[in-house]
Amino acid sequence: MEEKLSALVNIGELVTCQGEEGLKIIGDAALIFNQETGRITALGEKRALRKEYNFSRIKCDDLGGRPVLPGFIDPHTHFVFGGYRAEEYFWRLGGMSYLEIMERGGGISNTVQATRESSFEELYRRGWQRLNSFLSQGVTTVEGKSGYGMELETELKQLDVMKKLDREHPVDVVQTFLGAHIIPEEYRNNREKYIDLLIEEMLPAAADRDEVKFCDVFCDKGVYTIEETEKILLEAQKLGLKSKIHVDEIEYVGGAELAAKVGAVSAEHLLKVSEQGISDMKKAGVIPVILPITAFSLGENYAPARKMADSGLPVALATDLNPGSCYSESFPLLLALATLKLNLTPEEAIRAVTINAARAIDSEEEIGSLKPGKRADFIVLDAPDYRHLIYHIGINSVWKVYKAGKKVWQREKGGDFEKCHLKS
Ligand code: NIG
Ligand code: FE
Repeated sequence: MEEKLSALVNIGELVTCQGEEGLKIIGDAALIFNQETGRITALGEKRALRKEYNFSRIKCDDLGGRPVLPGFIDPHTHFVFGGYRAEEYFWRLGGMSYLEIMERGGGISNTVQATRESSFEELYRRGWQRLNSFLSQGVTTVEGKSGYGMELETELKQLDVMKKLDREHPVDVVQTFLGAHIIPEEYRNNREKYIDLLIEEMLPAAADRDEVKFCDVFCDKGVYTIEETEKILLEAQKLGLKSKIHVDEIEYVGGAELAAKVGAVSAEHLLKVSEQGISDMKKAGVIPVILPITAFSLGENYAPARKMADSGLPVALATDLNPGSCYSESFPLLLALATLKLNLTPEEAIRAVTINAARAIDSEEEIGSLKPGKRADFIVLDAPDYRHLIYHIGINSVWKVYKAGKKVWQREKGGDFEKCHLKS
């Protein structure tokens, strides 16, 4: 049996993210995994594991005291899109608001046009590049939304691109149908007609695909109302799609309360969430997904993540990578904002991109923490301890990335950490 096993040994800190709080770090640890099943076999202090496992018969990689963590998870992205909106970014720097740009027919509509015009191959190629960028920062799973088609054909094209990427790229892609992202131009004066089309044709086609797990709605000022959102999400639930919602981003609309009412898995953005919304989410077990790079990029106040964490909510973080409100997939920036601006502790920030992010995509049984039986998705840092992910501001500390037990990415060479570590 032991021939099939591999191990990482001489791990300075094994950050397991097990349990309900804290990181449950094991020092002087080893992690044993099975390359064939892609699962974790055992982990713990090497001294203790030695009693059960004969390390001389296991392929071992000595990490020289480096830290190991679960692979990061990004539970909210729009990474499959055509074109760019750089000009809008500069308009915003000049003082125009996201809503003003949207009301002038810019914003999401621009990307809808560009995505309709993009070929499958083009979307696939750009999606692949974006997943490479995620992977090099230690991200092993991303959620990806459709929502730049706003017509059946293009929505399905986005979903097809994600399906092929999920199969062919090392990063796993969890799919969300976001046919209710905006009211498309063609239906501006007849929104009911688009919602009917969405419910009668688009939702069933999306729900028919096993890989599509969630239905999302942009519920906010100028987009979908609370009533419309509830109707769409309940129809989607009947077809087996779980709910996620973009809520209370631009204005307070009672979106978090609705997320609790419909039993959504997660509520996302939450810049303007109410006290009631926070307490409803807690009662209903809704995971808040906070997107601080979007607030940073839009020059908005941050979501009250500290308050949510203090109320006992398991806060998750995501990049929101998209061409408009947040053209960034940077995990170092995400972790910097989470600690400097949202005032999450380093432990909370790491849980927010691992186990809590897994909960936000309903995958906590599979990924998000290091435990025997879970998928062998983990990262090795080229740093003395895990806190360098936060302390080394804006810099990628990830050295190696393993997906289902296989090393899928490695930086060319490690830094001089080994020397520093051995000296001390
Ligand atoms: O999460 N808020 C709605 N959707 C995206 C923005 C998409 C875009 O601007 O293209 C978001 O920020
Ligand atoms: Fe979004």
